[in-house]
Amino acid sequence: MKYPKIGNITFDGWAFLAPMAGVSDATYRVLARRMGASLTVAEMVSAKGLYYENEKTKEMIVINEKEHPVALQIFGSDPSIMALGAKRMEAAGADMVDINMGCPMQKVVKNGDGSALMKNISLAADIVRAMAQAVHIPVTVKMRLGWDHASMNAVELAQAVEEAGAMAVTVHGRTRDDMYAGKADWKAISQVVNALHIPVIGNGDVVDGPSAKQMMEETGCAAVAIGRAAWGNPWIFREVNEYLRTGEEIEKPTGAMRLDMVRYHLHELCREKGEYIGIREMRAHAAHYFHGLPKATILRGQIMKALTEEEFNRVLSDYELMEGMIEKK
Ligand SMILES: Cc1cc2nc3c(=O)[nH]c(=O)nc-3n(C[C@H](O)[C@H](O)[C@H](O)COP(=O)(O)O)c2cc1C
Repeated sequence: MKYPKIGNITFDGWAFLAPMAGVSDATYRVLARRMGASLTVAEMVSAKGLYYENEKTKEMIVINEKEHPVALQIFGSDPSIMALGAKRMEAAGADMVDINMGCPMQKVVKNGDGSALMKNISLAADIVRAMAQAVHIPVTVKMRLGWDHASMNAVELAQAVEEAGAMAVTVHGRTRDDMYAGKADWKAISQVVNALHIPVIGNGDVVDGPSAKQMMEETGCAAVAIGRAAWGNPWIFREVNEYLRTGEEIEKPTGAMRLDMVRYHLHELCREKGEYIGIREMRAHAAHYFHGLPKATILRGQIMKALTEEEFNRVLSDYELMEGMIEKK
């Protein structure tokens, strides 16, 4: 199976990290890359925030040298402001700039951004054109199947953005109306694949090696973007890439491996963002890492009370002792 290629970038596998606000920050992207993600995509960043030089927004485009290849994702709907944002992202070291045309949140779509762009194909194409002219790195688009089931226009939109200069398109197999409900429609993704000349990245409901393989076979997509199944589970990237390469399923991480990863992730978050923010953000991540562990609910409750990295780690060690995961010294 051929490695995916976007512009001049050839990836080392097919498992990409999908952008997730509150999840795919630089800390997690480095972790995901280390664990085998072939491309990581950052949380969406406001084009207006970059234009007005908002401090928090500027921090969001800081890239760690260990995470390449990485795409920064932008949302907005004014072509010239988006083009300027793309330039800032290129200057920040992004390997690609991805345009968010899929976010369903009211506070985003009410401004005509995110998935609202699917209702305005000519504006969507103007944005891609302006951005592609502004930067030398590939401009890509992430979209859904349409606004709702009565207006599924993914093929038309994808063709328009390809024509405007997009180098790849990621298609999440749901409409805006679906939000995250129901099953992703992979058949509709295959229609986009068949209509385009550029690579299409399939997205929606890939949860392991076999589902990734099935997505690639059913849609013909060049790679898969994994979102929710990667939250608290960075092992999934190696699992998927190995399965696609060899057809072999590698062993799932043990409880002890999960807790070790939590310690590492927590430490990196605290180092990057300070202990106060690091602890709070890690609570959400940890809740996902604990998925499927015995007495996970109790453990989740306990880490909510931890106020320092040391306390957090003590909760983890006490749990390990209680569950007999390590010998009492
Ligand atoms: C918590 C969360 C945050 C997300 N943030 C973004 C985002 O910033 N940009 C984006 O394009 N999609 C975002 N998404 C959508 C995912 O990238 C992906 O399209 C969706 O979750 C479907 O893929 P999955 O079934 O692998 O999760 C987000 C999804 C979740 C669950």
